Order: sequence, then C-alpha cells, then structure tokens
Amino acid sequence: MRVIDGSEGNQLSDATGRGETAGMTSSPSFEDLLAEGQAVPVEGWDFSWFEGRATEQRPSWGYSFLLSARLARCSSSLDIQTGGGEVYAGALIRAGRRPDVVAATESWPPNVGVARQNLARFGARVLEVAEDGDLPLANASFDLVSSRHPTRHRWDELARVLRPGGTYLSQGVGSGSNRELFEALMGPQPGSDQPSARRAAADARAAGLHVVDLRQEATRVEFFDIAAVVHFLRKVVWTVPDFTVARYRRQLADLHEQICRDGGFVAHSQRYLIEARKSA
Ligand SMILES: C[S@@+](CC[C@H](N)C(=O)[O-])C[C@H]1O[C@@H](n2cnc3c(N)ncnc32)[C@H](O)[C@@H]1O
Repeated sequence: MRVIDGSEGNQLSDATGRGETAGMTSSPSFEDLLAEGQAVPVEGWDFSWFEGRATEQRPSWGYSFLLSARLARCSSSLDIQTGGGEVYAGALIRAGRRPDVVAATESWPPNVGVARQNLARFGARVLEVAEDGDLPLANASFDLVSSRHPTRHRWDELARVLRPGGTYLSQGVGSGSNRELFEALMGPQPGSDQPSARRAAADARAAGLHVVDLRQEATRVEFFDIAAVVHFLRKVVWTVPDFTVARYRRQLADLHEQICRDGGFVAHSQRYLIEARKSA
C-alpha cells in the first residue's frame, strides 16, 4: 500500500492495495470498531489514520503536482479553505521555492490553528474567513489562487483578488460524491451526478475568468472496516449531514456485515479540476 506522503495531498490512502490493520491479531467486534471510529480526532485534514482501512483512487491529473508547478513560478499565492494547510504545505515544499507572499484562508475554527502551525515555515498569513465570506484582501493582490475541495466557491471574490493574468486552480468535489455510501445509510437520495465541472466553468466565466482546463473523474473508494466508515462520516461531515452512530446504528450493522462478507465496501468520489485565468 502506498502511504500518504504529501505527494498527492490528503485523502484516503492511494488505492494501490490494502495493508493489514496495525496491531490487530484477531477480528475486533462491531462494538469495538464503532468505538474506535468514534474516538479518532477529526481536526486537521490529514487522512493518514485510514492507512490499511480504506483506500481512494486519486484523480489522474495529480492536483498537488499541478499546484507545485504553478507555485514555483508565482510571486504571491493564496489558498482558500486550506483545511489544516497540509496539501498547500506539501505543494509549497515540492515547488522548491517560496513565493514572496504566501497566504491562506480557513473557515473552520479548529483548523485555523492547525493551518497556522503547518504553514508557519513559509511565513504564511492564515486568515479566518467563513466559507461563503468576503475575502479581507486587496483587489488584484495574488497571481495564484488555489483551493482543493472547497465547500463553497466565492467566484466573485477570488476573481477580485486575482491580478490581471493571474490563475485560479481548484480540484472540486462533484455532486453525488460517495453516493453508494450515503445511500447505504440514508436510502435513495434525489439529485444528479452530472458533471459539476460544467457548472463550475459557467460560474468562472460569469465571474469574468477564462477557463483553460476542465476535467472530471469518478474515483474508486473502498472501506475495509466499519471503524473507517464511522471516522470518515465524522470527518467528511457533509456526506451524511445528520450522522451519529446512534442514529445510523442499524445501517452501520448492515454495512459491517457486508464488509465482513465481501471484504470491503466500494463507493465512488466525484472529482473535477478547473483552471481559470483573469485577462491580462
Ligand atoms: C474538504 S476541506 C478541504 C481542506 C483542504 N483544502 C484540503 O484539500 O486538504 C474544506 C473545508 O472544510 C472544512 N471542514 C473540515 N471539517 C469540517 C467540519 N467538521 N465542519 C465544518 N467545516 C469543516 C475545512 O476546514 C476546510 O475549510
């Protein structure tokens, strides 16, 4: 199994195989696994706990590498909804040089401190900004703006802070992401899994940007025990918005049985990449 090493940023371990659950010599019970999944801290945006318990195929475009290449040639960079700053920090390290100005925003208070810590070595300014809030930043102040898996895009604001000729690079989560998982708990849900990329492109154009790259992929996700499912649902809170173990105990028991019988539970993430430029 490939371990999360920052080369592709934080998500479930790369789907190149499955490791053994560390330290487990006999099968833990359903109750033990529920307790374990509930005990793992959810702050930050580091998915290394999942190693050996869940995998996620990575989109073919390699977001973190694309970001590094752009960081290597920009002078001012802003990462929006940076989470714990782990992905941004990994891309900055790989870029091999530091832009003169490194900034980030984060919306979730527990992650602001984590991001400040992870980005301190780059001299980054980390601003606490609501996910749909205005950016407290000057017009035309960044030549690169990035965001991976933002919960919301403020296209007007990111376009405003970009310099003429500047670039916005983002990997987004498409609608219907992990549908198999949320429907296993919540039952059939309405909504379409049609490319969210097209909608993002329309929003980018409406904000006056030129779309220079647009891609979409479904990537395979596999869970190997119910503790991984519980931890994932506590961490990626928008998957099943009212998730608690107590509320979904019956569905979790069914899923546990299915995982024991089949060796895993497969879902698919929806991912898209958009790169857009502001006119020079
Ligand atoms: C999906 S995260 C992506 C973070 C980062 N850009 C990355 O790719 O690693 C997007 C946003 O959700 C926030 N977030 C994470 N867990 C949250 C929670 N339990 N409640 C509210 N926001 C949360 C993050 O802090 C971040 O601002």
